[in-house]
Amino acid sequence: MSDQPSPWQGDLDRDDLIEANAPADPLALFAGWYTAAADCGLREPTAMTLATVDPDGTPSARIVLLKGFDEAGFRFYSNYESRKGAALAANPHAALVFWWEPIERQVRVTGPVTKLDPDVSDAYFERRSRGSRLGAHASPQSRTLADRAELEQRLADVEARFQDHEVPRPSHWGGYLVVPEAIEFWQARRSRLHDRLRYVRDEQTHWRIERLAP
Ligand SMILES: Cc1cc2nc3c(=O)[nH]c(=O)nc-3n(C[C@H](O)[C@H](O)[C@H](O)COP(=O)(O)O)c2cc1C
Repeated sequence: MSDQPSPWQGDLDRDDLIEANAPADPLALFAGWYTAAADCGLREPTAMTLATVDPDGTPSARIVLLKGFDEAGFRFYSNYESRKGAALAANPHAALVFWWEPIERQVRVTGPVTKLDPDVSDAYFERRSRGSRLGAHASPQSRTLADRAELEQRLADVEARFQDHEVPRPSHWGGYLVVPEAIEFWQARRSRLHDRLRYVRDEQTHWRIERLAP
């Protein structure tokens, strides 16, 4: 592909992302935008880019699914021994990015990351399908494999191990909480004069709102 300017101009041109309308709590704004994204037919409105920094300083990003959010932060689940797990163990900070194309909105979150309580991870793991639970045991996420057959053999071994038994959560698998320190809301406007409002946490429960140039 060549370097062509995009014809996309921000078709919706809403004018409601202004300081006068902005709720004091960014989680309330996020909840409204998330509902709009979920209602517009997107298959995975929970899909978000998770960016971390490897122990050697290399940035790394991948998609994970948001499994819940509230005043405490944004929750996702993964393998604690994966590349992201190693990154978060060394540097427990992350950035999240949502891009909801049909409603022309982006949300960026940054902040420290903690592991979820084991009880919370257990409760979520129990709700997953048996196949997903077996997969969490079988897949050494982010490690190199000799070939596909090795993965299938690992799954067969795990299936044999847990035949006729419940599949417990492996200790290397569980949830993370991204505690937001800053949340930026971006909404397309015409002529690329997009609106950007960034909430920065001043104190535990107080957020300062800044307007950023697009
Ligand atoms: C739509 C989508 C959803 C995904 N959801 C998750 C998830 O919730 N948790 C997860 O560990 N990996 C998820 N993945 C896989 C990750 O993108 C990634 O391949 C995996 O976590 C290994 O990343 P790492 O090697 O950087 O640790 C998802 C991938 C896609 C495309």
